[in-house]
Amino acid sequence: MNPEPRDNGRAGLHVGIIMDGNGRWARRRGLPRWRGHLAGVESVRDVVRACPELGISTLTLYAFSSDNWKRPRGEIGRLFWLLREYCRREQDELQANGARVVAIGRRDRIPKSALAALEEAEARTREGNTLLLRLAIDYSARWAIAQAARSLALKVEAGEIEPDQVTAETLHRELTGGLPDPDLLIRTAGEQRLSDFLLWESAYAELYFSPVLWPDFRREHLEAAIAEFRRRERRFGGLVPKARPETAAELLAAAAAELRLG
Ligand code: FPP
Repeated sequence: MNPEPRDNGRAGLHVGIIMDGNGRWARRRGLPRWRGHLAGVESVRDVVRACPELGISTLTLYAFSSDNWKRPRGEIGRLFWLLREYCRREQDELQANGARVVAIGRRDRIPKSALAALEEAEARTREGNTLLLRLAIDYSARWAIAQAARSLALKVEAGEIEPDQVTAETLHRELTGGLPDPDLLIRTAGEQRLSDFLLWESAYAELYFSPVLWPDFRREHLEAAIAEFRRRERRFGGLVPKARPETAAELLAAAAAELRLG
C-alpha cells in the first residue's frame, strides 16, 4: 500500500460504503443468502486493498446495521461468523499494509467471539497509519448522534460546559472525535437511501449509487466512483470556486483580467 497522500495535499479521501445486494446475488444463483455475504467478503478484501492507491485514507464499511437484528437468527449468526473470520484471517495483511481497524457502533450486543476477534484486530493494527478501516457493526447513525448528545448533556450536568456550548460544532466533535467527514458515500445494488448510515457526518458528502451488487463490486467499480466524485463540483453551500491559474502566463492573464474588472 502507498502511504502517500494523493488528494492535492489533503490527507486523503474518506469514503463510506453501504454494501448492499448480497441476498439478491445469492438468490440469482439459487444459493442461500449467507453465500452472498460470503462472496461479499471477497469484495471487502479487493476494495480495502485498492484504497491507498486511489487516494482513500479512511474507509467506513456498513457491515451490520442495528436494524439487521431483525433478520433470521441463522443469517445473523453467519454474518458475525464472517466478521470474526475476516478479522482473524486478514489482520496480518492489514497490519503489514499499515491499515488500522476500528469498529464503530454498539459493542454490548456483538457475540463474544466476534467481539474478541474484532478487538484483537483493533489492537494488532493500532499503529497503522496508511488506511483507517472503520467497520460499522451494530451501527445506527441516530443512536450515535443520541450518544454524542447524551455525552454533552452529562458534561453540562457536571458543570464542564455551559448549555450554550452545545452547538453543531461541539456535537460534531463529540460524535466524530475530529475525524474528517465522508467525502463520498457509495451504495451498491441500486437502492438510493441512507438507511441510518453516517447521517450527521454526510451532510456534504457526495452520493454515488451503483447498480452493481456488492459481491460483484471490485476495485474498478470503486475507481469509477472516485472518478465520478472528482468530476463533481463541491461547494459546501458556497459559490463555485474560481479555477486556479496554473502557469505563469495564466497567472498574468488572470491578474490583467482582475485589473480590467476592478
Ligand atoms: C446487505 O445485503 C449486506 C449486509 C447486511 C451485510 C454486509 C456484510 C458483508 C459484506 C460481509 C462481512 C463484512 C466484512 C466487513 C468482513 P442484503 O443482505 O441486504 O442484500 P439484499 O438487499 O440483496 O437482500
